[in-house]
Amino acid sequence: MQVIILKNAEEIGDYVAGVILAGVDDGSLKVLGVATGSSPLPVYEALERRRTPELSSISAFALDEYVGLPYSHAESYHAVIDREVTKRLRLDPARVHVPDGASDDLPQACLDYEEAIRQAGGVDLQILGIGGSGHIGFNEPTSSFASRTRIKTLTPETRADNARFFDTPDQVPLHCMTQGLGTILAARRVVLVAQGRQKAAAVAAAVEGPLTAMCPGSALQLHPDATIVVDEQAAADLRLSDYYRFVFDNRPAFQR
Ligand code: F6R
Repeated sequence: MQVIILKNAEEIGDYVAGVILAGVDDGSLKVLGVATGSSPLPVYEALERRRTPELSSISAFALDEYVGLPYSHAESYHAVIDREVTKRLRLDPARVHVPDGASDDLPQACLDYEEAIRQAGGVDLQILGIGGSGHIGFNEPTSSFASRTRIKTLTPETRADNARFFDTPDQVPLHCMTQGLGTILAARRVVLVAQGRQKAAAVAAAVEGPLTAMCPGSALQLHPDATIVVDEQAAADLRLSDYYRFVFDNRPAFQR
């Protein structure tokens, strides 16, 4: 894993936006995996600032969606992705995909989502956040590293974290449809972003802890091209933070 420690959310946004645009420029990024939540917003804002028309040709796949929340609800991930990603980046809405958590046939919708990713040629770069529980996507602790898109039950911790988006905590749905850890690991490149002290324990467990289903983010240790981009606060529990800074400062010229 490459761990990059930057000063703040704005630097993180600029850095990851640069990685995405370089991939679009050199033709290696045609399918972008997008996350919802607060962590990736600085990335979308940085991309919006750069006003890049070439993004209009890419496809995007979201990680997850609540089950049982109408898409007209402002906090459904259909609505969030439309607002924060499709409109900001001026993507073609026909090429932006979100799991169908409102389907009458949820198991089939999970299979269809996997098939849509496959038909698009797979995800070239997946943006990720990480939850306090260590989840990536909505793969909560004990998720199988081989899992594919499926229905999961959110932990009380995740529901409490996401209550900030709803009027009352009990409005946070209990179930979600999420890409599995196996789906995420199949992306050609993954970039996880995290900011703030409240993410420090989960980041340290994912990067330096044991490979364990109790911290689904640790599955990224199995990925051949995983980059973790964090601010100083989210890096606070990393034992090797000085080494990560040293590696970044001395990276070979072709990686600059
Ligand atoms: C979002 C997602 C989640 C979030 C995580 C962190 O699509 O899959 O894994 O990335 O819950 O959320 P924030 O960024 O709001 O702290």
